[in-house]
Amino acid sequence: MDRNDDDRTNSRTKALVAAGYRYYVPNYKPRHAIIAHGKGSKLFDLEGHDHIDLGAGIGVNTLGHQHPALVDALTAQARRLWHTSNIYFTEPAVKLAQELVTSSAFATRVFFCNSGSEANEAAIKLVRKWAAQRGKSPREREIITFKGAFHGRTLATVTATAQPKYQDGFEPLPEGFVHCEAFNDEAALENRMSPKTAAVMLEPVQGEGGVIPAKPGFLKFVRALCDRRDALLVVDEVQCGMGRTGKLWCHMWEEGVKPDILTSAKGLGGGFPIGAMLAGAKVAEVLQFGSHGSTFGGNPMACAAARVVLRHVCDPAVMANVHARGLQLHSALKRINDDHAIFAQVRGRGLMIGAVLDDFYQGRSGDLMEIARKHGVLVLQAGPDVVRFLPPLTITADDLAEGMTRLRSAIAEFVRNT
Ligand SMILES: Cc1ncc(COP(=O)(O)O)c(C=O)c1O
Repeated sequence: MDRNDDDRTNSRTKALVAAGYRYYVPNYKPRHAIIAHGKGSKLFDLEGHDHIDLGAGIGVNTLGHQHPALVDALTAQARRLWHTSNIYFTEPAVKLAQELVTSSAFATRVFFCNSGSEANEAAIKLVRKWAAQRGKSPREREIITFKGAFHGRTLATVTATAQPKYQDGFEPLPEGFVHCEAFNDEAALENRMSPKTAAVMLEPVQGEGGVIPAKPGFLKFVRALCDRRDALLVVDEVQCGMGRTGKLWCHMWEEGVKPDILTSAKGLGGGFPIGAMLAGAKVAEVLQFGSHGSTFGGNPMACAAARVVLRHVCDPAVMANVHARGLQLHSALKRINDDHAIFAQVRGRGLMIGAVLDDFYQGRSGDLMEIARKHGVLVLQAGPDVVRFLPPLTITADDLAEGMTRLRSAIAEFVRNT
């Protein structure tokens, strides 16, 4: 079946898409397809078209789709126990907490929740409580974040997100956030620091902001600055963590840097919703009984899934695949660019890669994403000017090569039509 021929979209797909558009709050604009199932790095729509998945549900399906170890763990857990709340311990949650602490090299305790926004919300509350316990007034509990950052959609995290387009109309926004006007700029950050600063919060690779890695030495600088000014360092690894860049946690690329707080979600559950906040010794005792919570946080199904993902991400063979496939992706994009001159820059780390559209094509990453889908390859955008690639960490060389072949023909069509 011709995947470009919208007229041949079957009636079930059309009816479901129409119902989705009829019944969802219109905050999303889903593509006119129904994804029915996935296997490895491929997704299949209702009509049987296959797609090479280079987006992994926005960096979530760490081990691809239907990974046998995940299916087994979730099936076994589903037969045992689905939920207890935090009134009780469960084995998957306790073991996952222990494994996250042991593998982190800085954390001593963990708080579980359900999403990246919630993990960051917990981090923000922890920073404020820490400052409060040190006798700081509410005005002295500021958190500095960076231009281009994305930290979530709750009111506090959308305020931390230094991008006005996400905040517009949601005022009044909570106080206590300061936006540094440039990421990777030591002097700009130093200017923003003051006795009122309680923490600096950053993504070691900015994701939604355009896939912008922290430059070498920047995290070290921020860590030292925070230490000098008695402020905490919070790393948001919701997108760039869990092996995505080729190390378990992305900040580990910068030798010797240990954050005070790390947030994770997305890839942690491999497709099952879970978030986590890891806390270092300095702050691990701050949130005492009753101070924070989450009904679903630490859900045994989610934790059973995350344990499997963590075990695989800690396997050197999986990290080797991230390095190898990252290089393969870079060089395939370079070859496509040699022929079509569509990208000004390809940047990123491991399997977190952004291709910046050349001036002539700026603003069109969403269009390219849609053409790519029709050619059977799913990519993402990071803003209007950047095409983003976050494939499963387990993607095979063959699937990636097939995805790049399809992307090449999509780009040829895109260039022809522009
Ligand atoms: C770096 C970062 N932090 C936080 C979030 C928010 O995560 P969630 O959508 O799970 O709330 C995202 C989502 O894209 C993210 O990329």
